[in-house]
Parts: sequence; structure tokens; C-alpha cells
Amino acid sequence: MKKVSLFLLVSCFCAALQAQNLEVVELITPSKDRGSSIMKSLADRQSVREFSTKKLNKQDLSDLLWAANGINRPDGRRTAPSAMNKQDVDVYVLMEEGAYLYDPQKHALKPVSKGDHRKLVAGRQASVAEAPVILVLVSDLAKFDTVKDKAQLFGAMDAGYVSQNIDLFCSGTGLATVPRASMEAEELAKALNLTADQFLMLNNPVGYPK
Ligand SMILES: Cc1cc2nc3c(=O)[nH]c(=O)nc-3n(C[C@H](O)[C@H](O)[C@H](O)COP(=O)(O)O)c2cc1C
Repeated sequence: MKKVSLFLLVSCFCAALQAQNLEVVELITPSKDRGSSIMKSLADRQSVREFSTKKLNKQDLSDLLWAANGINRPDGRRTAPSAMNKQDVDVYVLMEEGAYLYDPQKHALKPVSKGDHRKLVAGRQASVAEAPVILVLVSDLAKFDTVKDKAQLFGAMDAGYVSQNIDLFCSGTGLATVPRASMEAEELAKALNLTADQFLMLNNPVGYPK
């Protein structure tokens, strides 16, 4: 028991050290009147794998995260549905300066770890590392009281909805994105301090078109 407590304490300390020097990013209230119609967004949706390196402005970043999996009702439910409303999908935000976790309650980005981890997502697809923002969708399978196979299935479906929200937000606002399952999962899990129950499902690099 003592060993476990010590391990947890050391893990928390290491995580705090890694996030050092990164500050909380307060996001702007989402602009809900923007973008093309839902039918035009569907008509324009496509996978785009080349990105301008220009950073996303704060409004685009804020709206992107709210569209992905923000809170859209007073009871805390989200823009993306989730199996049994378990809200298992966390959105990690990778940018040049470091990795953050989207906090939907505060509509803010919480520091996770310093440094540019985008190459761990890009792998051999070098153009992906040029996207100014990469959203990494992680399902916390511990939130499901089911057998592991079923939890993975629910987690994968829930992440798919979040990814499609990102796709449609991007096609409706002129941003470029592609849903991807490829990533260097083991190293990325370490960089993001994930637990054994947190499963890396999908990622969406996002940027202005090149
Ligand atoms: C679950 C899933 C995983 C995918 N993984 C990758 C990937 O790792 N790399 C990639 O370049 N595209 C990936 N894609 C994008 C598909 O290749 C793309 O959606 C497909 O070619 C159809 O093109 P479209 O999205 O333009 O309609 C993935 C798509 C889905 C739905």
C-alpha cells in the first residue's frame, strides 16, 4: 500500500514538473452563428493532409474545441453524444509549445506537458506535424462498467462522434483536417501521462489550408 502511495505521489510530482512553465489557456466564448449550413458543411467535408503552419487564432481554437466536445446544455451534456452519457472522450491539444487537456467545464486548456509532441502523432506522415494544432481523442475506458471489449467498442464509437464534429466544424469554417488512427501510441501515452485505462483512439490535425 505504502509503495502504491509513493508511486502515485512520484507520478503526480513528475506530471507537475512536466507541465511547468505552461499556463492555462482561457478560451473565448464560442461563436455559435458562424460557419456554413450543415448541408454545405457535409458537401464540403473531405480529408485534407496539407496545412499552413500559421497558428490558429484564439476564436478559431475556442470554437474548434467547443464544437469537438464542448458543453451545449445546462446539465453538462456535450456537443458529441457518448454511450450511456459516460463522457469518456478527453480531447488533448498538441501545439508547438506543449500539450494541453481541454476542460469543457471551464472552456479552457489545462497544461499537461511541455514540448512539441506533434511528431509523435505524425509518424511518417511529416505534413501532419506542420498542423499548428493536433487534437488527440482519448477514451477513458474506466468510465464504462462493462467488459473490456465492449468498453473499447463504446470508446471507439464515442471518439468517432467527436472526430466527426471536428470534421464538420472544419469544413463549415474553411479549416483543414483529417481523422487519423495512426500515431506512436506508446510514446504519446507517456508524453500525455495517460493511465493504463486511457485509450488513444483517433487524432485530428487542424490548420488553415496550405
Ligand atoms: C477511423 C479512421 C482512421 C483513419 N486513419 C487515417 C490515418 O491514419 N491516416 C490518414 O491519412 N487518414 C486516415 N483516415 C482518413 C481516411 O483515409 C479518409 O477518410 C478516406 O480516405 C476517405 O477520404 P475522405 O475523408 O476525404 O472522404 C482515417 C479515417 C477514419 C474514419
